[in-house]
Amino acid sequence: MKTVWGEIRGAAEKAWHCKDDEILIDGPAGTGKTTAMLLKALAVMEKYPGARILLVRKTRASMTQSVLVTLEDKILGAGHPLIGNVKRDNRASYRHPNGSTLVLGGLDNVDRIMSTDYDLIICFEATEISENDCETLTTRLRNHMMPYQQIILDCNPSGPRHWIIERANKGSMTRFPSRHEDNPLLYDSDRGLFTEIGAQYIEKLNRLSGHRLLRLAKGVWASAEGLVYPEFDIAVHVIPRAQVPSCGFHFGAIDFGYTNPFVAQLWGVDHDGRMYRMREIYYTCRTVEDHARQLKKWEAEYRISEWVADHDAEDRATLAKPHIGIYTRRARKDVRPGIDAVTLRLRKAGDGKPRIFFVADARAEVDPRLREDKKPTCTEEEFDSYQWQPPKDGRAAKEEPIKVDDHGMDTTRYAVMDVDSFNNRRW
Ligand SMILES: Nc1ncnc2c1ncn2[C@@H]1O[C@H](COP(=O)(O)OP(=O)(O)OP(=O)(O)O)[C@@H](O)[C@H]1O
Ligand SMILES: [Mg+2]
Repeated sequence: MKTVWGEIRGAAEKAWHCKDDEILIDGPAGTGKTTAMLLKALAVMEKYPGARILLVRKTRASMTQSVLVTLEDKILGAGHPLIGNVKRDNRASYRHPNGSTLVLGGLDNVDRIMSTDYDLIICFEATEISENDCETLTTRLRNHMMPYQQIILDCNPSGPRHWIIERANKGSMTRFPSRHEDNPLLYDSDRGLFTEIGAQYIEKLNRLSGHRLLRLAKGVWASAEGLVYPEFDIAVHVIPRAQVPSCGFHFGAIDFGYTNPFVAQLWGVDHDGRMYRMREIYYTCRTVEDHARQLKKWEAEYRISEWVADHDAEDRATLAKPHIGIYTRRARKDVRPGIDAVTLRLRKAGDGKPRIFFVADARAEVDPRLREDKKPTCTEEEFDSYQWQPPKDGRAAKEEPIKVDDHGMDTTRYAVMDVDSFNNRRW
């Protein structure tokens, strides 16, 4: 089918026409899901004056560098009247002259999005939200400026028992599994061949490993075998900044890297000894000196002077140079005790709450290189691919993790070991 913007086909076209209450468009990376659903939102705005559409993610901030880039740069284009002069990160909505509105929201500010009714809700990266969030959103589908009211979930596959795929398998949600062949940028349907861009993109996805390969290259809702931290649950451990209580103590943890990401985490510890990852740098190809500027800002903002870092002597010495003046303690790096300590904190304590949390959107700047390569772009994205080495001759089960995409995992371990070694301290 031709749209004013370009062709859409396959699952994208079917989801575009579908009027069912709840729909799921899932598939591997880059099949055109988000583009097609944004085109549907724009078409609905045009067709139904007064319609109100909500574009939502787990956090509003995470939309700025993802969905809004697709919408403003790839679909509307600079200078489009819907965009006007409002900056992306501050924007709350886009208004059409016919009275229809595209509202932007995050589940980190539920009160704001729930104070209005909608005709259509599109939730991006929907595997990040809980079933309860989804059901809460559907209660606001009652604006009735369109002949049907609908929620659309757009995501890459997650594990085989994720609530989204179970809901679709039960028949409560109409599912449209999309494929790379649906995307005209990647696949030339006249010639029946992948385009040059498409072939390169697929090749890159095929270099992923384990369940990331299955999910992001093949579109399978696949489980990761032997996860080091099966306790990690994004709905429990990743929280909005507003939910962090006052912290009596802050400190930083660093894992050096250049080709691999440099990871720095700023942690807060509350009066019960719970840990909150407040800020994060997760970036490749920048020097320690470059990062030091940001670390100094954290020092000033959180009044910290305590840092724990991995043992690289040269990088620690760089930070300790007089013009920088960041003095690091050497991390306790024993892997198995560290993993046990993190596991203990991830588990819910007697009061039903875990003892470690990750503030959503703590990482201010997404590394475009990592995003392009479909690698984790922050610590919380590492959890679901951090796996044990399979047992083999001379190595017991659960002895050593696979050393890939583990830089945030290492940094978190250093931070936890550091805090736990001061267990008599009063926070
Ligand atoms: N119908 C289309 N025609 C031409 N190009 C398209 C079309 N749909 C998507 N693209 C281009 O393909 C790329 C990927 O699109 P998009 O981000 O919509 O995919 P996605 O399935 O949402 O990806 P992800 O799984 O990573 O979220 C973008 O560069 C986009 O501009
Ligand atoms: Mg997308």
